[in-house]
Amino acid sequence: MTSLYRSIEWCNGAVRILDQRLLPATTIYRDYTQAAEVAEAIRTMVIRGAPAIGAAAAWGLALSAQSSRSLPMGLAWEYLQSAATILRESRPTAVNLFWAIDRVVNAVSNPPPQTSEELFTRVLHQATLLADEDISTNRALSLHGLPLIPERALVIHHCNTGSLATVDYGTALGVIRAAHEHGRALQVLVDETRPRLQGARLTSWELLQLGIPHEIIVDGAAAHLMRTRRVDLCLVGCDRVAANGDVANKIGTYQLAIAARAHQIPFYVAAPTSTIDLATNSGDDIEIEYRDAEEVTTCGSGRLAPDGVRVCNPAFDITPADYVTAFVTESGIVRPPFATAFKRLLGTRLP
Ligand code: MRU
Repeated sequence: MTSLYRSIEWCNGAVRILDQRLLPATTIYRDYTQAAEVAEAIRTMVIRGAPAIGAAAAWGLALSAQSSRSLPMGLAWEYLQSAATILRESRPTAVNLFWAIDRVVNAVSNPPPQTSEELFTRVLHQATLLADEDISTNRALSLHGLPLIPERALVIHHCNTGSLATVDYGTALGVIRAAHEHGRALQVLVDETRPRLQGARLTSWELLQLGIPHEIIVDGAAAHLMRTRRVDLCLVGCDRVAANGDVANKIGTYQLAIAARAHQIPFYVAAPTSTIDLATNSGDDIEIEYRDAEEVTTCGSGRLAPDGVRVCNPAFDITPADYVTAFVTESGIVRPPFATAFKRLLGTRLP
């Protein structure tokens, strides 16, 4: 079953993106025709979620090549490189962004295109392939996750990892969706995910459409509910997995993992292999994005904190590999020791 809404698609020479900043109140699609506009949409989180921003960057490159169709090949190639640079600078933590750009640029470099028209055709083909693969990858990953979900399960989920965070179907939320589709009796505790409320706004919106029972909880309630209710597992997505298994994901993931460990609850991370970054040794080497103070001090048009107050707003944290029970990938479940398991899984593949 495909989702009711597509987070992103290529539509008549434009990249059409569902504006996630306005959900769940308003459903508005925006059409972009320039790579720089797509970079800005990623930066301002019109579109967010690691696999979704990878697809956005790939189609952003297609927009650049499309604008250069009447130019000499050398100039079109230069423009593609500068579009790649602008897109790379849009957000720092999710490796899928860089992976997608490298994948498209490498695929069209060899053999070199002869004309700017050929460049456009090939970039668009590669970007569309990448987006289509995202969907099949997520479906495969979700089915691999099924054995981890008991017949009746209470699951804690953090942030949004569903159709909105991907091209379709989702990763961690994909596993939950597949479990529901396979008849599991699921109840999901949805972390609201301060400060941008991806859980309260987006995950609950998706779960409602799918008919999956859930309750929104404030992030600080997770440990209490682990102690007072029979939580079976935590299931989260991720933005980058280092070669040693350390996980960068939405802020609050680390404290959830610590609480899960304290209550002997399994902590699973859903990660397409495009999120595993063998070139990054450990979580210490992952750049953590810090975002604007307004995300914390305001809510909609309302002010929450005193004017001029100082704010520290890391958007991601690192969960050490030791806290992760297993990864769910499109190639199967990966258990510790992760460093050797990843090498076996990915071979010598380096970005
Ligand atoms: O800042 P966001 O909303 O882009 O952060 C998204 C997350 O942290 C998700 O958990 C992650 O990208 C996995 S999405 C399949």
